[in-house]
Amino acid sequence: MTFQKADWPRKLRSHEWYGGTSRDHIYHRSWMKNQGLPADLFDGRPVIGICNTWSELTPCNAHLRDLAQRVKHGIYEAGGLPVEFPVFSTGESSLRPSAMMYRNLAAMDVEEALRANPLDGVVLLVGCDKTTPALLMGAASVDIPAIAVSGGPMLNGWFRGNRVGSGTALWQMSEDIKAGKMSTEDFLDAEQAMSRSPGSCNTMGTASTMASMTEALGMALSGNAAIPAVDSRRRVMAHLTGRRIVQMVKDDLKPSDIMTKPAFENAIRTNGAIGGSTNAVIHLLAIAGRVGVDLTLDDWDRLGRDIPTIVNLMPSGQYLMEEFFYAGGLPVVIKHLGEAGLLNRDTITVSGETVWDEVKDARNWNADVILPVEKALTQHGGIAVLKGNLAPNGAVLKPSAASPHLLTHRGRAVVFEDIDDYKARINDDALDIDETCVMVMKNCGPKGYPGMPEVGNMGLPPKVLKKGIKDMVRISDARMSGTAYGTVILHTSPEAAVGGPLAIVRTGDFIEVDVPNRKLHLDVPEAEIADRLAQWASPVEEPAGGYAKLFHAHVQGADTGADFDFLKGHRGKAVPRDSH
Ligand code: FES
Repeated sequence: MTFQKADWPRKLRSHEWYGGTSRDHIYHRSWMKNQGLPADLFDGRPVIGICNTWSELTPCNAHLRDLAQRVKHGIYEAGGLPVEFPVFSTGESSLRPSAMMYRNLAAMDVEEALRANPLDGVVLLVGCDKTTPALLMGAASVDIPAIAVSGGPMLNGWFRGNRVGSGTALWQMSEDIKAGKMSTEDFLDAEQAMSRSPGSCNTMGTASTMASMTEALGMALSGNAAIPAVDSRRRVMAHLTGRRIVQMVKDDLKPSDIMTKPAFENAIRTNGAIGGSTNAVIHLLAIAGRVGVDLTLDDWDRLGRDIPTIVNLMPSGQYLMEEFFYAGGLPVVIKHLGEAGLLNRDTITVSGETVWDEVKDARNWNADVILPVEKALTQHGGIAVLKGNLAPNGAVLKPSAASPHLLTHRGRAVVFEDIDDYKARINDDALDIDETCVMVMKNCGPKGYPGMPEVGNMGLPPKVLKKGIKDMVRISDARMSGTAYGTVILHTSPEAAVGGPLAIVRTGDFIEVDVPNRKLHLDVPEAEIADRLAQWASPVEEPAGGYAKLFHAHVQGADTGADFDFLKGHRGKAVPRDSH
């Protein structure tokens, strides 16, 4: 089965700008020609945008201009006219208060740029965490033919003979310092070994997860997710992507043809199999909202249950993306899902072929990296969605990164009112806390701390770490880096800042976590909870102006993807009118 192609040739969207002899047509063409473009490039061929998140402030995407050149080669070869343009780049490692606060801004930028310009199709150049969902969201809202190509992960980090996984090693080493197991000098030495090539995080963090989600959804060519940034095959992938988008325009193969509900189901199951980031939950819900697919947290729990995590990558396992690529990459994982009856085989990808056709011949070259099911890191790898009186709309946990002995747990809450309160008290040996307690942090949800920062994996108190304890149950309305690990319950919804029950938890309350039965329970009488909520007032002030005010007014809860209420759905490609 292949995609049903449209009739060709037909009049393209760009023809409205370039395809005539009127004053306006001449105006549009003539100004473009100041770039040295020959006249025959405006002969009705597809005009393809290259939507680039390149930025030196987004180090993970700093090599994307080179890839854009490769994409251009492919577009020219296939008979298209490439035009590269920048959009807001959400660099995870630098942006404050959080890159996530700007995901929706970038998505708006992409959407408006695609609609307002004479584009027939677009190549989305993505890499660092939020750049991928932002561009998919924007493209989905316009729904012109679109294909993504990722920048690819960094090479493995190595420090004194050991792999250094982006982010994962940072969290571990900072805990080792608090536990007195590592010196600051060694930490600084390790810094030099962490990021040794262009590319995105080399762990199965959010960037690698979202590259995998893009491939599983069918929005990138098969094999795109894992090729290292500096491998020549990454350039080949960009080149082939450029060729392919021209044909997609001719076939009128759009995001809404590809990102169907069955495609999202494939992506959710793939996330369980790779031990992917919890951030994928929020991003896929938001993308689905843009393309008009009804996807819910319950879908995540239902589809992810009993998916074994077979990709042995940090933070859940031991290897890194470089080895995942050498082992065969994501096609091997998707093939495994297909063989296990866990894949909607007939979903169409950007290639115009089915996902099954793309992966059925994939081979696993390293069974230590892509594990057989009987050796899976966990047999229950899908994201668990917990509900109860502490999270009526749901909270999420990544089982592959959690400690099995803590998945069923009852403990005394130690509450931090916000991230500043946590930072102020966590290192105090007088803090009344031990490893049986449940650490709770409030006011880090979408509105509570604009953009919902990745602080949910609160570091443990030093006095607990010094006992050799590595994990405790932690609960918050924050997110967690895809590179992080632990028994960390995230995204509790509704968030504390809007009066979710998390807001009224007090130190000394008891909390019950029951992951097998998907329960998150605050062991306080309902009347007492109601009484506390009646007395509650939000500590979070509305921003005075600017984008922060827009964000605060319109961002939705994590349980529906934290998109803006007015951006849900697709608004199409029609431009209301031309001003010229
Ligand atoms: Fe950019 Fe991890 S910080 S991919």
